[in-house]
Amino acid sequence: MDKIHVPVLLKETIDSLNIKPDGFYIDCTLGDGGHSMEILKKLSSNGLLLSIDRDQNAINFVKEYYKEVSNSSNWIIVQSNFSEIEKHVKQIGKEPDGIIMDLGLSSRQLEDSKNRGFSYLEENEPLDMRMDTNLGVTAKDLLNAFSEKELYYIFRNYGEEKYSYKIAKEIKKNISSINTVGDLTRLIYKVMPAVSFNKNPSRRVFQALRIVVNDELNSLKDGLDNSFKILKTGGILSVISFHSLEDRIVKNFFLDKSRSGEGELLSGNHIAPTDEERRQNPRSASAKLRSIKKI
Ligand SMILES: C[S@@+](CC[C@H](N)C(=O)[O-])C[C@H]1O[C@@H](n2cnc3c(N)ncnc32)[C@H](O)[C@@H]1O
Repeated sequence: MDKIHVPVLLKETIDSLNIKPDGFYIDCTLGDGGHSMEILKKLSSNGLLLSIDRDQNAINFVKEYYKEVSNSSNWIIVQSNFSEIEKHVKQIGKEPDGIIMDLGLSSRQLEDSKNRGFSYLEENEPLDMRMDTNLGVTAKDLLNAFSEKELYYIFRNYGEEKYSYKIAKEIKKNISSINTVGDLTRLIYKVMPAVSFNKNPSRRVFQALRIVVNDELNSLKDGLDNSFKILKTGGILSVISFHSLEDRIVKNFFLDKSRSGEGELLSGNHIAPTDEERRQNPRSASAKLRSIKKI
């Protein structure tokens, strides 16, 4: 298996941590291991890295791809929601010097989803969208269970979709024939006016469903709270977000910590990818890196 995901803002994120070779660092979003590996390279044998991902496929990939180092005593890899970071850190019994989160989906999840239908391009996949397949509710379950009004609310608030009302109405009308990614994307194509097709018209609905299936925004709020709580004084929390809903949560959390005197904002407002990175990796285009130091 090859690496699929190109790490975003890699140098900027690693620089933001100001890594001490003997320190303890946590990568909350392992993915294909891009950021984790850069941290690991900077650690001595006394340093420690804990990498977390809620997707077992990410863990399996990294353990196989980096098999020469993935069993080393200074790299712990766990399958978990990063909102539970405190539990894992208690078991280790050390305060972390730095924590990173690189939010959202990896390119592996989009391109090799193991039949979970994260991408609106994978027509034949089922509407599942669970990052952690131990979770009970799939995207298709949500479409079945939610009323037209509830679907409207989800598409509007988590997808910022202008045509939420029409899409929700059409979904409920045709619910018995919606099973695959293709069934849903064809319905969205039919409902939306062609003038709005400058990007894939299903993009926002898929984002909204994924956020709800994985309870992403609550996980982020809890993850930020718990990460900041366990961070060592002087330690750094760096977060890369990809859309305005995530970024608003990160920005407000950091501002609150700065105003209350618990944290010092680093890197001015935020760091964005260079034009060169955007050209080479279009997926990085909307990324924003924010960092805060615990004081
Ligand atoms: C953008 S990718 C990370 C890519 C990684 N930095 C790299 O360079 O390869 C995001 C990863 O975070 C994981 N993830 C998203 N939300 C999570 C959460 N609440 N807890 C744990 N992992 C999460 C996803 O499963 C995905 O593998």
